[in-house]
Amino acid sequence: MGGPGRIALSSIKEFKTLRQLLRVQLQAQKYAEAIVTTKKILTILKGLELSAPQEVKDVWRKTAESYRTLLEKLEKTPKQIAAIPGQEETPDGSIGAVDLPKDCAEMFSSASKSTLGFNDLAGLEQVKEDLKDSIELPLKYPDKWQKLGVKSISGLLLYGPPGCGKTYVAKCASGQFNIRLLVADPSVVMSKYVGESEKVVAKLFKCARKAAPAIVFVDEVDKLIPLESKGSEVPQRVEAQFLQEMSGIKPESNFIVVMATNEPWNLNPAIIRPGRIDRWVYVPEPDRETRQRIFELNLSGLTISGEVSYYKLAAMTEPTDTRCYAASDITAICEDIRLHIAKDWAETDILSPVTMQRVKDAMKKVRPSISKQQISRYIKWGKDPKATGRSV
Ligand SMILES: Nc1ncnc2c1ncn2[C@@H]1O[C@H](COP(=O)(O)OP(=O)(O)OP(=O)(O)O)[C@@H](O)[C@H]1O
Ligand SMILES: [Mg+2]
Repeated sequence: MGGPGRIALSSIKEFKTLRQLLRVQLQAQKYAEAIVTTKKILTILKGLELSAPQEVKDVWRKTAESYRTLLEKLEKTPKQIAAIPGQEETPDGSIGAVDLPKDCAEMFSSASKSTLGFNDLAGLEQVKEDLKDSIELPLKYPDKWQKLGVKSISGLLLYGPPGCGKTYVAKCASGQFNIRLLVADPSVVMSKYVGESEKVVAKLFKCARKAAPAIVFVDEVDKLIPLESKGSEVPQRVEAQFLQEMSGIKPESNFIVVMATNEPWNLNPAIIRPGRIDRWVYVPEPDRETRQRIFELNLSGLTISGEVSYYKLAAMTEPTDTRCYAASDITAICEDIRLHIAKDWAETDILSPVTMQRVKDAMKKVRPSISKQQISRYIKWGKDPKATGRSV
């Protein structure tokens, strides 16, 4: 895995699976089995604490403490257990020290370095390369960039079909480059202080300057800078402020705004201008190798039966004439497989492998969610953003 101190993703996955199993066991009041599972969880948490970077060790230690308390209750008064601990401390790629001033921290729904890296991100090699050139190097070596007069960029747009990794890419880039990710959620910006949203936008950029070097991530940016702002003039003021702030980013500001959308044609074209969005990067549907790796990442820790291979799983999720699997469809298939294996394990005490039947059952429930028509539209937009009409 990535750099030194990176938390092993497989251990986190195992932790999540066991936590799910524990939930099932507690619901079924199988306390003896729950004790065994809790002990396994504690062993994993110990490993995670040991391998975690310094600033995250505490999170794992506290998580372990809550499971130790649970174990005590399980051994003495199991009927009084209301819930299993730990949902909130479970890292979904955004744990770490938050050392921003309070008024700035509340601007962002997350403000930490991600624990995910490019090893967790299947495929998308071109996207990784683009992000390295546009984010990592200019933010880490601003002096060299400036001395050679290399133009650094202010804004980068990730666009592509839903569930194919735009948000995930931003998280993985933050962890990979070891640069803080400030996540700005448009719905928070728009609703924070009614009538003062444009002030919120100004503050957001002010905070980004304080937190630099940083990646400011604006997800679903089409909601913030829509093609047509409807209703009150508030959205228009927000938009104007955002465009003004984007134009005001200087190389020495040392942060970059990464935006994401699955409806790029609904963006106000004013944003697609050098100095605002300088580069747009397509995040496509997963190809065969990428799907294979997503299966591998998401089924790690499970035994795969002889009739199943990651290669076969990738082949079974080839696009049809009209539709393709999104990356999130593949992870949903894996989640279904894991859930059923965990349920069987809880009920029979037999930990079964991933069988072809199990895969087929999961695939019946998760259909390919992207149409090829949608994909053509993204490709057309990428070639000429101004020519693609508004969606309905
Ligand atoms: N390349 C990838 N490698 C591994 N997992 C991936 C990859 N792409 C997506 N995923 C998985 O799919 C999930 C959904 O991806 P994500 O939320 O980033 O999609 P999105 O493009 O932002 O979708 P939307 O347009 O709906 O916001 C991720 O949380 C991750 O688990
Ligand atoms: Mg997203």
